[in-house]
Amino acid sequence: MRPERIRALCSPDEPLEHAVSRVSKAMATEPLLDVQLAELLLGRGSDAALDQVTSLRILEILDRVSTGARLVCAIGQLLGDAHPLIRSKAAMVIGRRTENFDWLDAQLMSAEPRVRANMIEALWENRAPECLKVFMQYRDDVDSRVAGNALYGVYLCGEADAIPSVVRMAGDPDPKFRATAAWLMGKIGQPEFADVLRRMVKDESRGVKGSALKSLVRLNRVRGPGQGPGRSTAGGTAQTERKSIVPDNYFVTWQTEYSVNIDAIDLQHQAFVSLIRQLQEAMLEGRGRVFLETLMDRLVQYTNGHFPFEENMLREHGYEGLAEHIEQHQALSNQVIEFQQRIHDGEAVSNASVLLFLRNWLTDHIMQHDQKYAKALKIAKQVGKPAAPALPPPDPESIPAAEPAPESAPEQPV
Ligand SMILES: [Fe+2]
Ligand SMILES: [Fe+2]
Repeated sequence: MRPERIRALCSPDEPLEHAVSRVSKAMATEPLLDVQLAELLLGRGSDAALDQVTSLRILEILDRVSTGARLVCAIGQLLGDAHPLIRSKAAMVIGRRTENFDWLDAQLMSAEPRVRANMIEALWENRAPECLKVFMQYRDDVDSRVAGNALYGVYLCGEADAIPSVVRMAGDPDPKFRATAAWLMGKIGQPEFADVLRRMVKDESRGVKGSALKSLVRLNRVRGPGQGPGRSTAGGTAQTERKSIVPDNYFVTWQTEYSVNIDAIDLQHQAFVSLIRQLQEAMLEGRGRVFLETLMDRLVQYTNGHFPFEENMLREHGYEGLAEHIEQHQALSNQVIEFQQRIHDGEAVSNASVLLFLRNWLTDHIMQHDQKYAKALKIAKQVGKPAAPALPPPDPESIPAAEPAPESAPEQPV
């Protein structure tokens, strides 16, 4: 098949399922089409180089349509690709179908930790008996993700000491390993882990706490309310179960010290705090990644409504720091758009990085810079200028709904 035709078949503009179906059908008459796709990926058979998105799309398609191990060595060359997403995806494709474990051993020894971790994760689905040897070899790796994936592989192979090893890892001095142990406990899903995880929720490391919380939620979901060990009570709901294991100060909620004493602005800031809370809820329920796209749309909406509203109010009052404040709004808007673009492009954006960005926005911009104008406007009011903006409220459609402030809100970990 001609390279242009192959490119059209694999176009990332089409939904993945359509592309997979079309390539599968084409392979019925052209059984070497997957080899041609691999050649194209490696920059052969065509003068035009592939961009990263198209390369990833072809790898996805090959993962779904190519059976057997004939492409493993060809795709192995992509383990040295300049783009980390291509290296990671290539590692997954290889791990799922490798039969040459000597070759795989050599790759595992030379690859970077992230790629090694993916390759080992892909072996979870590989039924070859050699996989256990690989898992055993890497279960004590210096990288926590590699070691965690290998230990989970050991567990899948039915090795008796996998569970005690996970519990031992939970006491590791390195928080990265403790966080991995907490993740493993949720993944394995044994109710007996609940007590260890409850202790880990009080860990000094935020990463360990978060991982332990997620796993506790997962254990409760697997166990169902009112079953097995734990704090559950008969007749409890998934919601009460989840809340029972989350410390009171886990969620970011509205605090009186966030107030700028201008009702219209406070309402909008409450809507922003509500977005942080929604992300935390989504993360706890294991749907954080899916929620990120919706969150970014809501944040764009929020910045389009709130920032001009606030700037108009400051302009109205002749606020001296207006130009600087507008610059800060612009920087925040740019970061939101950048996140939105990266998520749209399929980049791996972590929930934690978005949560950190939003918390910084709250503590740095709202708590400091918005408070600064609040003080200036208060002073202006005292000397006789109007304190409230003579402006219409923003379009309610453009501001996401705020959650009611709790009666007594605990201090937040922001
Ligand atoms: Fe603001
Ligand atoms: Fe502001």
